[in-house]
Amino acid sequence: MASPPPSTAPARLVVLVSGSGTNLQALLDAIGDDPEHYGAQVVAVGADRDGTGGLERAERAGLPTFVCRLGAYASRPEWDAALTAAVAEHRPDLVVSAGFMKIVGKDFLAGFGGRIVNTHPALLPSFPGAHGVRDALAYGVKVTGCTVHFVDDGVDTGPIIAQGVVEVTEEDTAEGEAALHERIKEVERNLLVEAVGRLARDGYRIEGRKVHLGHVGE
Ligand code: GRF
Repeated sequence: MASPPPSTAPARLVVLVSGSGTNLQALLDAIGDDPEHYGAQVVAVGADRDGTGGLERAERAGLPTFVCRLGAYASRPEWDAALTAAVAEHRPDLVVSAGFMKIVGKDFLAGFGGRIVNTHPALLPSFPGAHGVRDALAYGVKVTGCTVHFVDDGVDTGPIIAQGVVEVTEEDTAEGEAALHERIKEVERNLLVEAVGRLARDGYRIEGRKVHLGHVGE
């Protein structure tokens, strides 16, 4: 699967959030007022719940926002179809799941498969799922980190774009998940900004599990 050849227009990003939105903020800060230089612009921000820090950041940046709450739909497929339609309205080149704590479904993958980027706070394939930081700490690993990857139909199983490593210290073991997660997020924000920028500027190919950056062989 290949991305379209790079064009001069910045890639259109729709960013999905559930939480405080510091990864979204890192993207907004990197883009600043020069989307041509970064290679991408955020055209809209979506969330699965109201009143989150991520939505507030989007509103402060003057971006269009939308909310698709799972509970507002009769079934998960209906929610997925609504989310797909809401994202499609903004014609994204890439969809960035930046701390979006929902598993997308068939319609969403059919609409945007190979163009959905997720960030996960552990070194996949270890510790997938909603509690990657806690699970890594409980397992007693000495290093953990974060993974930026494409989304497929599994839970945090898609092809890996980039990874960053964070050492687990004695203090993490004592202080617990929150302190370690904060240190991971410092690495994660830079990794996401770097990975999304490269995908947008240089293009990419996905071959099986391998992601090749740049338009190799074109
Ligand atoms: C990130 O660590 C992300 O990987 C995880 O939740 C965190 C979101 O942080 N799933 P923020 O909302 O971007 O600050």
